[in-house]
Amino acid sequence: MSETVHPVPDDFNARIGPAELDALLKAEESDPHGHWMEQAKRLQWTKFPEQSGDWSFDEDDFRINWFADGKLNLSVNCLDRHLEKHGDRTAIIFEADEPGHGHRYTYRELYEETCRFANLLKQRGVHRGNRVMIYMPMIPEAAAAMLACARIGAIHSVIFGGFSPESVAGRIADCDACAVITADEGVRGGKHIPLKRNVDAALEHRDVQSVIVVTRTGADVPMKDGRDVSYSAVRDQLSTECEAEAMDAEDPLFILYTSGSTGKPKGVVHTTGGYAVWAAATFDWVFDYRDDDVFWCTADVGWITGHTYVVYGPLMNGATSVMFDGVPNFPDFGRFWETVDRLGVTIFYTAPTAIRALMREGDEPVKRYSRKSIRLLGTVGEPINPEAWEWYWRVVGDGRCPVVDTWWQTETGGILISPFPGATPMKPGSATKPLPGVKPLLVDSEGKELHGATSGNLCISASWPGQMRTVWGDHRRFFETYFSTYRGLYFTGDGCRRDEDGYYWITGRVDDVINVSGHRIGTAEVESALVAHPLVAEAAVVAFPHDIKGQAIHAYVTLNAGEEGGEDLRRELNQQVRKEIGALASPERIQFAPTLPKTRSGKIMRRILRKIAEGETAGFGDTSTLADPTVVDQLLAGAREFQ
Ligand code: PRX
Repeated sequence: MSETVHPVPDDFNARIGPAELDALLKAEESDPHGHWMEQAKRLQWTKFPEQSGDWSFDEDDFRINWFADGKLNLSVNCLDRHLEKHGDRTAIIFEADEPGHGHRYTYRELYEETCRFANLLKQRGVHRGNRVMIYMPMIPEAAAAMLACARIGAIHSVIFGGFSPESVAGRIADCDACAVITADEGVRGGKHIPLKRNVDAALEHRDVQSVIVVTRTGADVPMKDGRDVSYSAVRDQLSTECEAEAMDAEDPLFILYTSGSTGKPKGVVHTTGGYAVWAAATFDWVFDYRDDDVFWCTADVGWITGHTYVVYGPLMNGATSVMFDGVPNFPDFGRFWETVDRLGVTIFYTAPTAIRALMREGDEPVKRYSRKSIRLLGTVGEPINPEAWEWYWRVVGDGRCPVVDTWWQTETGGILISPFPGATPMKPGSATKPLPGVKPLLVDSEGKELHGATSGNLCISASWPGQMRTVWGDHRRFFETYFSTYRGLYFTGDGCRRDEDGYYWITGRVDDVINVSGHRIGTAEVESALVAHPLVAEAAVVAFPHDIKGQAIHAYVTLNAGEEGGEDLRRELNQQVRKEIGALASPERIQFAPTLPKTRSGKIMRRILRKIAEGETAGFGDTSTLADPTVVDQLLAGAREFQ
């Protein structure tokens, strides 16, 4: 474990230095209400709130509300309020898959595009409170579509373009969406993704009233009469003004589906006021935002990072945000840095998996470009190993740009643990310290709080404005998933170490969630996709460490009696997972196993499966409760081909 400390670089003149951070932390501690009301002033409210946090994590009195008596509209905060002073400032720089192709939208243009979209949604009968699915590439119209929903009070649910039609169908059914906004096709790394055709396939299960299709490639796609509308065909007739709904602070803003340790993905619900305050504040604090910055977060809007740090956080702060529709290795491994130089990017935020993939290609593709515009680097999505951190710092940042390792989750709405780039000395591999108002706590497996330098399960003891409010349609599941493991605490699902300096080191998930290249995948989902194959009797899925992806999937599959596994069946099973979930969940390894290690009561001992997948051959602990102890040797023999 690295214990190197990198001080804040001398010439990094942040707005928030150690003294300012200290004052901020003290203000929150001495007067939380006053602190949060101060943060609420970042926004423009139709009615400024008088209440700040009103919450309890106890079962009898369970509630989470922030700024509940306030009223506001988020598209107004992202757009209208900037028009007078900064209407001509660039809001979004669209960088297409093809280098240099793309365009810029000023705040005024994005405002007009958003109003057009909002008017079209209204024409199609979409009202406040209705759900709208967005299944789009990383094009500015995706941001406009999100903001249009926010403008009329519809609840958006963005689905990453890599998810399959079955996944789209499941989400549409879960939230009973009335409309889908999509594009004819997406383009990634030169490959075309048939988004509209996927939507059509999803809607075979359950139709919606409207499908709005944005033109990205101009591909010829089937259009269903009465349901489908081509956005480009109607765009010019749509008004560029649309009145914004005054939303209650606790009205839902969006639903974002994410995987958990059990069952189907759950619809994480974020509401308007608290999410907005948290997105605006954290963007400003962590990225030391200034008016002339060009901010590039490489995440897709299909993930929470794209919601908070491509769209809402930057736009609420009046920033210029890059929307990148490509991949780091197309047309070659210099793509990020070529783009940084061309667009003058000053703040660059990406995932450890991308950093590791680039690091493997050596320094040359980085050094080929100047990167002198960059002043701050960030990472998110999974633990970053110290070697990758050091490479990012030394090679990409030339040792002059702070690196903010930001820990957070879909559920948290925005960053919770991160350095302040101008105030927090960095330790490679540590997300450092909680932001003001964030109260982390480590507990043992019984829920007893652990003090000082120690390791345990990471919980949060107090609510913060950006916290999710419920699981769509299943409030009980919300409580059960996050608040029932340790009474009175929000349980993150992560393991964590705290060192002598109070720095937090996230070690990864301690539940049955796998983080493949920063994408969150539930073992239960992959297992149910595998057992849907007619030859499969049973499946168990675990993670193993992977050099680039962080973690990858090892699937143990037991076939029906008399069936035999082989390469063809492996391909079929992979195909099955792609069909049910998407390519991102397809197992790296499929091991055909005669049986799975079960206790006498029939419970699968995943601990053993994990160890075998990690390449261990001994030290399986107590196996005496196994119904058939010889199964371990059989599994070890089967795993040899992967080592
Ligand atoms: O395990 C943690 C890991 O990603 C999980 C959350 O995944 P998701 O909801 O998809 O959100 C990802 C983007 C915010 C966490 O429970 N994780 C996220 N950021 C970090 C991290 N692990 C270590 N260090 C991080 N900086």
